[in-house]
Amino acid sequence: MADSILDRFKDKQDEKVAVDTSKKLKIGIIGTGWIAQAHMVGYSTCPDAEVVAAADLISGKAEAFFEEHCIPSDGVRFYPSHKAMLDNEELDAVSICTYNATHAECAIYALNKGVNVMLEKPMCVTLDEAIAICRAEKASGKVLTVGFQPRFDANTKMLKRIVDSGELGQIYYIQTGGGRRRGIPTPYGTSFITKETAGIGALGDIGWYSLDMVLDAIGYPKPLTVTGYKSDFFGKNPEYMEKPEYAEVFGVDDFAVGFVRLEGGIILDFKIACAMHMDSLGDTMILGTKAGMKVKRDGQIIIYHDIAGERVETPVPKQSNDGKDPFNLKIRYFLDAIKNGTPSPIPSIQILYNQAIIDGIAKSADIGEEIKIVIPEI
Ligand SMILES: NC(=O)c1ccc[n+]([C@@H]2O[C@H](COP(=O)([O-])OP(=O)(O)OC[C@H]3O[C@@H](n4cnc5c(N)ncnc54)[C@H](O)[C@@H]3O)[C@@H](O)[C@H]2O)c1
Repeated sequence: MADSILDRFKDKQDEKVAVDTSKKLKIGIIGTGWIAQAHMVGYSTCPDAEVVAAADLISGKAEAFFEEHCIPSDGVRFYPSHKAMLDNEELDAVSICTYNATHAECAIYALNKGVNVMLEKPMCVTLDEAIAICRAEKASGKVLTVGFQPRFDANTKMLKRIVDSGELGQIYYIQTGGGRRRGIPTPYGTSFITKETAGIGALGDIGWYSLDMVLDAIGYPKPLTVTGYKSDFFGKNPEYMEKPEYAEVFGVDDFAVGFVRLEGGIILDFKIACAMHMDSLGDTMILGTKAGMKVKRDGQIIIYHDIAGERVETPVPKQSNDGKDPFNLKIRYFLDAIKNGTPSPIPSIQILYNQAIIDGIAKSADIGEEIKIVIPEI
């Protein structure tokens, strides 16, 4: 029984990619911190791309990054900022691996120079910035994508296929989020916790993942209103922080919740924490009129439905990525979109909606009232 049900969700799309190596795309890396290495690995798996330049605001950091990761830097030119790099290089694309607060500035500068952009998540800090990025993308005609690798994971794609199959019926309620009991990210310093560099905390760091997972699954309906709450009890507590002085500079949220009305009468109930006195904020759940779907903390997907009058729980077998690393796929699909003139693998309108929810939660929390989400024409 379970097998025949699950057959309906088989992925019919074969994602073999033929790579034309006759021209190598010239790539620049902006920001050479932690995530930049994953981008370097991604580009190294693409025979049609070469990293020719790297920039970091911290003097010597880009050069040291190449040395530390044993990446050959012959022919790579180093710059002290995104502007210096983009003003002096003829690039096909950049990976923007800077902290959140400079995402918008770097993306808009690159797009205005006619350079394709792979922008790390979250898109940026505020909705206004996101709108400005989308407008720059539109004016440039270039590809903008967000470095959101879970989209290319076979299990995430499975969620979408199940929803698209109609098995759940009409979706009316979603609960998502989650988080960590202890996990304010400071292993490499304070770039994830200060207002000046991160701008947003758990919301943008990990909240993004769960929001994108469920919104992509249900086709990214437009967000209409949001009631939000956020707090910083752990981040501001010197006894909790890895180093007591981090509490003084903590300027973002470590916990946030949002109650969001989406187009189509769907309610999204979202909670995220990077520190709390709890093991979990609950599994992800999508409730539909015909069936419900749960994504447990370990990733196990379960469908709850009635079959022949019986209440049945169908665990969905874990999907394999067939050795394809989603981190590398996000780079591959970005390059394919540039070369083939095809749409961005993660369209910016979706990311705009994601950012609008995050921005709405932050704004509503600040004023203590529900707010209407207004997204102007791009
Ligand atoms: N996709 C993922 O799984 C994933 C994982 C970790 C981090 N991230 C995201 O990647 C981004 C970077 O994270 P990180 O951990 O590498 O941060 P980091 O703080 O280690 O590195 C950021 C670097 O960017 C540099 N920088 C900032 N503005 C710049 C500019 N205008 N020009 C040149 N350099 C600039 C900083 O000097 C710093 O060295 C964050 O937005 C984060 O949310 C994504």
